[in-house]
Amino acid sequence: MRVLRKIRTLYTCTESHQLSAITNAAVVWKDDSIIWIGEDNHLPKQTYKQELDASDYIVTPGFIDCHTHLTFGGNRWQETGMKMKGASYLEIAEKGGGIRSTVRETRNASDAELLTRARYHADLLARDGVTTLEAKTGYGLSLEHEIRVLEIYKQLSQDNSMPRIFPTLLAAHTIPEEYQQNREDYIRLICEDIIPSVSQKKLALFNDIFVEKGSFSFDEAVMISSVAKKNGLKIKLHVDQLSDQRGGELSEQTGAISADHLEFISDESIAALKRSGTVAVSLPIASLQLKQPPLPARKLIENGIPLAVATDFNPGSAPVPSLIHAMNLAVVYQRMTAEEVLLGVTRFAAQALDAHHEFGQLKVGYKADFTMIKADSIEEHIYAAGKKTHEVKRVLRGEFV
Ligand code: NIG
Ligand code: FE
Repeated sequence: MRVLRKIRTLYTCTESHQLSAITNAAVVWKDDSIIWIGEDNHLPKQTYKQELDASDYIVTPGFIDCHTHLTFGGNRWQETGMKMKGASYLEIAEKGGGIRSTVRETRNASDAELLTRARYHADLLARDGVTTLEAKTGYGLSLEHEIRVLEIYKQLSQDNSMPRIFPTLLAAHTIPEEYQQNREDYIRLICEDIIPSVSQKKLALFNDIFVEKGSFSFDEAVMISSVAKKNGLKIKLHVDQLSDQRGGELSEQTGAISADHLEFISDESIAALKRSGTVAVSLPIASLQLKQPPLPARKLIENGIPLAVATDFNPGSAPVPSLIHAMNLAVVYQRMTAEEVLLGVTRFAAQALDAHHEFGQLKVGYKADFTMIKADSIEEHIYAAGKKTHEVKRVLRGEFV
């Protein structure tokens, strides 16, 4: 048994999904599980294998980045200049840039290179306190290369010092170059080959689809999702990012666990999202980089929709591997409070991975994953994002990493 004592403030979440804060707190864990939480002066008297003073730290459930495109070949820095001169994301994509250029580079990259980059990006996210992350494919877009990236994630997840990884298949990211003239054949490849092999090899938990002009339509997403579900994969959606694609209705029809982006979600779609129980995932780095409006965070929250915050780390729309950066933007760009953002990277991010019964809260029986930050309060940490004195430490699977 180990214990963190005299924690400045310990943050977790109530049954009704409000943030709760305990000052001068203690948390006890054994192996990988939390076994006691409360005020330090009520700490059960017994011998602990390790007893640490955390009076300079706030402690939160380990941060979860529930939307990343963790590894890929090449970079797209030149596109940023094009965007600043007025080119849109879709125009760049139509000229062979965008996702397809990363597909070319990813296919050319060696396994070792993709693994090194996955590790490097995961490590950067970990420095912000991330203990769990979701990692998507989507730059292979063939049976061979989608599986290759998932196998790299599997290999990385065997390293216990790395954040826990929840892998997602995103073969339906866009239509690859070689299928430009026959998109139906690519959709058939996804449904008849890629999804069944990924499922049979147990390489992914989720199937994601980019629903947008130039990628996949509403009806295609319904069809691909039903195949994914039959193959035991849960559903995620990239939707309403650049235009209204009826993301709420699609979430309802597909039973999606999460609907991500939602910058252009309509009021009718918000009502449907509420009915569906799907988690909305906000990705403020991508919204801002593409000069999109922010998603309507206040409206979603007022409607009682669980709202997570994530980086969307990827080489195009969000090349910033930093969760604290996303958390700060969620406040200043999306008008969320620090408390809502903390719930968004813990409780609701866990729900976006369908893992909220084990992750995202500090509660007896939950995983012993903590983020410890040398700050006065969570408000200070998020509002003063990047403050150099805010040293971040993590407990992952019950161990200091
Ligand atoms: O989440 N929207 C689609 N996919 C990514 C962008 C991927 C890319 O530009 O490489 C996103 O923003
Ligand atoms: Fe994304």
